[in-house]
Amino acid sequence: MKAIVQHTYGGTDVLEFAEVPAPQVKPDEVVVQVRASAVDAGVWHLMTGLPYLLRLGFGLTRPRKPIRGMDVAGTVEAVGANVTTFEPGDEVFGTCDGAFAEYARTHHTKLVRKPKNLTFEQAAAIPISGFTALAALRDKGEIKAGQRVLVIGAGGGVGSYAVQLAKVFGADVTGLCSASKVEFVRGLGADEVLDYRKDDFTRDEFDLIVDIAGNRPINHVRKALAPSGTLVIVGGERGKVIGGVSGLVKAVAMNLFVKHTLRGLISLSNKEDLAVLSELAEAGRITPAIDRVHPLSEVPEAIAYAQAGRARGKVVITV
Ligand SMILES: NC(=O)c1ccc[n+]([C@@H]2O[C@H](COP(=O)([O-])OP(=O)(O)OC[C@H]3O[C@@H](n4cnc5c(N)ncnc54)[C@H](OP(=O)(O)O)[C@@H]3O)[C@@H](O)[C@H]2O)c1
Repeated sequence: MKAIVQHTYGGTDVLEFAEVPAPQVKPDEVVVQVRASAVDAGVWHLMTGLPYLLRLGFGLTRPRKPIRGMDVAGTVEAVGANVTTFEPGDEVFGTCDGAFAEYARTHHTKLVRKPKNLTFEQAAAIPISGFTALAALRDKGEIKAGQRVLVIGAGGGVGSYAVQLAKVFGADVTGLCSASKVEFVRGLGADEVLDYRKDDFTRDEFDLIVDIAGNRPINHVRKALAPSGTLVIVGGERGKVIGGVSGLVKAVAMNLFVKHTLRGLISLSNKEDLAVLSELAEAGRITPAIDRVHPLSEVPEAIAYAQAGRARGKVVITV
């Protein structure tokens, strides 16, 4: 099969469009004929091997698994002996290791059926960013209807879901983004949109702030929190050694000493949340926002574009 592979860590030039053996199904797994995948920040982290901390889990000197891509949508090609929930031909979406390929293997619990009203491209744009936004708002943020919520980084992949999901939860939502994304974020349903180069978000007071950009000091962001407000740190690229983890650790440590609630998020994929997102998308309550679609051979261009932070919503790969 055709796949984008990497045998060393580095920039997009380490990626090769190559012919590799197709995956063989294992007893609890499903092989999916990939129709679409998507780019998220994790793809860039695993491609570059940065921050170095992640190499402890993914390979010290080179990636143990050569194919990137975690979001997947496609058609079931084969099911393992223990799998009773899917059969060949089913249209599914979810997560896997190695979706930048014609076929990918994954545990059956990481997939659900694709809603009929979604294209493969739309379905592939949901899982990783959708999980993250849902966990930030519902689990860490304990969002309630009527609350004032600020989404920092509202115009990106995670932000595009955070704005829509906060509206689903009944919040009054303000999005913070660059001027070029103001109209886009308004279109996602934000009640108010602030341009971070022009507007001072700390003049307002929010019950919940979800910081996806993660590039401001926590104490600065706290100025915009109501006295009993909650700040959830989701993202931030802080240095090559431990990267965004430092922001999460700082939030947890500071939480012991301040009245505000400060939390860091490490989101995990799970079938229950995938089902929640699938139902919301099927009902039209969230709509994947896709900036552009690249064919498999253009994964390097897609990663470079997403990493530059210019994408409005998601960058999708079609196979
Ligand atoms: N904790 C977790 O489990 C988890 C899971 C997934 C992702 N993440 C992290 O979340 C972060 C974002 O991921 P993503 O996929 O959404 O990336 P993305 O699509 O690149 O979105 C990031 C957004 O932040 C905006 N931004 C940059 N500087 C900003 C600033 N100063 N103020 C407000 N917005 C700013 C960027 O656009 P504009 O500047 O044009 O507005 C961009 O839209 C990454 O650091 C990623 O590693 C964490």
